[in-house]
Amino acid sequence: MDAAWWQRGVVYQVYPRSLQDSDGDGTGDLNGITRRLDDLRALGVDAVWLSPIYPSPMTDFGYDVSDYCGIDPLFGTMAEFDALLARAHALGLKLILDFVPNHTSDQHPWFQASRERSGDKADWYLWRDEPNNWMANFGGSGWTWDERRGQFYYHSFLPTQPDLNWRNPAVKRAMYDALRFWLNKGVDGFRVDVIWMMLKDAEFRDNPPNQAWHPGDRPFEQFLPVYSADRPEVHEVVAEMRAVLDEYPERVLIGEIYLPIDKLVTYYGRDGDGAQLPFNFHLLLLPHWTAGAIASLINDYQAALPAGAWPNWVLGNHDRSRVATRVGPAQARVAAMLLLTLRGTPTIYMGDELGMLDTAIPTADIRDPAELREPGQGLGRDPERTPFPWDSGANHGFTTGTPWLPMGDTVPRSIQTDDPASMFSLHRRLLDLRRAHPALALGELSAASAEGGVLRYRRTLNGTAFEIVLNTGGAVAETVMDRGGTVVADTHEVGERPVEPGPLHLKPDQGLLIRTTT
Ligand code: NOJ
Repeated sequence: MDAAWWQRGVVYQVYPRSLQDSDGDGTGDLNGITRRLDDLRALGVDAVWLSPIYPSPMTDFGYDVSDYCGIDPLFGTMAEFDALLARAHALGLKLILDFVPNHTSDQHPWFQASRERSGDKADWYLWRDEPNNWMANFGGSGWTWDERRGQFYYHSFLPTQPDLNWRNPAVKRAMYDALRFWLNKGVDGFRVDVIWMMLKDAEFRDNPPNQAWHPGDRPFEQFLPVYSADRPEVHEVVAEMRAVLDEYPERVLIGEIYLPIDKLVTYYGRDGDGAQLPFNFHLLLLPHWTAGAIASLINDYQAALPAGAWPNWVLGNHDRSRVATRVGPAQARVAAMLLLTLRGTPTIYMGDELGMLDTAIPTADIRDPAELREPGQGLGRDPERTPFPWDSGANHGFTTGTPWLPMGDTVPRSIQTDDPASMFSLHRRLLDLRRAHPALALGELSAASAEGGVLRYRRTLNGTAFEIVLNTGGAVAETVMDRGGTVVADTHEVGERPVEPGPLHLKPDQGLLIRTTT
């Protein structure tokens, strides 16, 4: 099979503030990332996606961009970025940047210019005399009054993140040129922030009420975002972005999309002219982590994929509670085996390979606006953004200063590297196997089955076959093997061993990757 790098490879998400500080200010930076690229290569991933590093007032930690073609001084300089990219490529790593097209910072010169009704930027944002009922994701109305312009502007997120008007061709041109700026440097692709929100109803119709909403639920959920997101016209813009990437060889367009599967797959575009990887967050969103729920998800997703579409899977990111917290540390090992043996490009969120848990943040240390604006509802994202523990030195080798968020108490990477039974070693083993066996990266996936808490599926390619047997529960379980084989990875034991056909006993939270005959 002639597969692209983004089909064969594994993506690793870096939250730049938290990987490695190099200058002692307590916040991670580009030089820190460059220094750690060898370590990421040693883990065995193929591509690194960086959350935003552009100039930003940081009201949403870089998702409020004030210059799409620069580097925030907190993270470093353009020369340091160029060095990072060169080092990544020298190591055979691809580099993916975050692109934030839905909104800019209110400090972006475009928005400042748009506050005048005359001038060429007047129509670059969504200005209205009267607000409608659209809400902001981080609490309150989505509309904020601007004294200077004498109108309201719409923001899907914070008032400091005004939404761009993607119906304006000049906005599109400017944004596509920003993409080209980075593509010309050799960046290998983009993860596009809230890609499904870019276009809004041209008539600004009110969103319908959500009948399932009750007082006390999140105010944002009071209305269904029918007119403020996932508009049919958005696909034209996605296809245009894709066409910009296709001006260059082998680039990838990844879309951030929180939608049900039937809607999600429309972002592959017409005949595949959309995103190559519309992020599939459904493992992250599963309300109940059971074999039955996971098997249904796998089968439903496989069945929904359009012809030629390549699947992908995500277990964690900088916006959601960490997988080890959601399913527990023992089951997180099973989840890792699942992620790295499914058909489709996996994305690993940095630190999940160490089994990092959400870190409790004392009230005085809270940084995330999502928590500060709607406190106590569990919306804060600081717990999954805490710095990466590298070693057993001061601040786990992350910084010589004061870390921007508290360090958790995860066993640091240097200790896990030397322990063949660690979560890190399990990841490395699974990544090695995935690289060594195209059947795991690219092979066919059988229908998944669930019985008595055990999730099973097979991967096959050109006479090579693997059986994946995952006990998703905390009790012992049994399944029956119809063929024998060799256990090549085990959440509980190191080393290979044979398995016979017949009953197979599983310990609680045990996952096995078994090479079998076809
Ligand atoms: C999604 C990003 O992942 C999140 O961190 C951010 O707050 C919102 N988009 C707004 O850009």
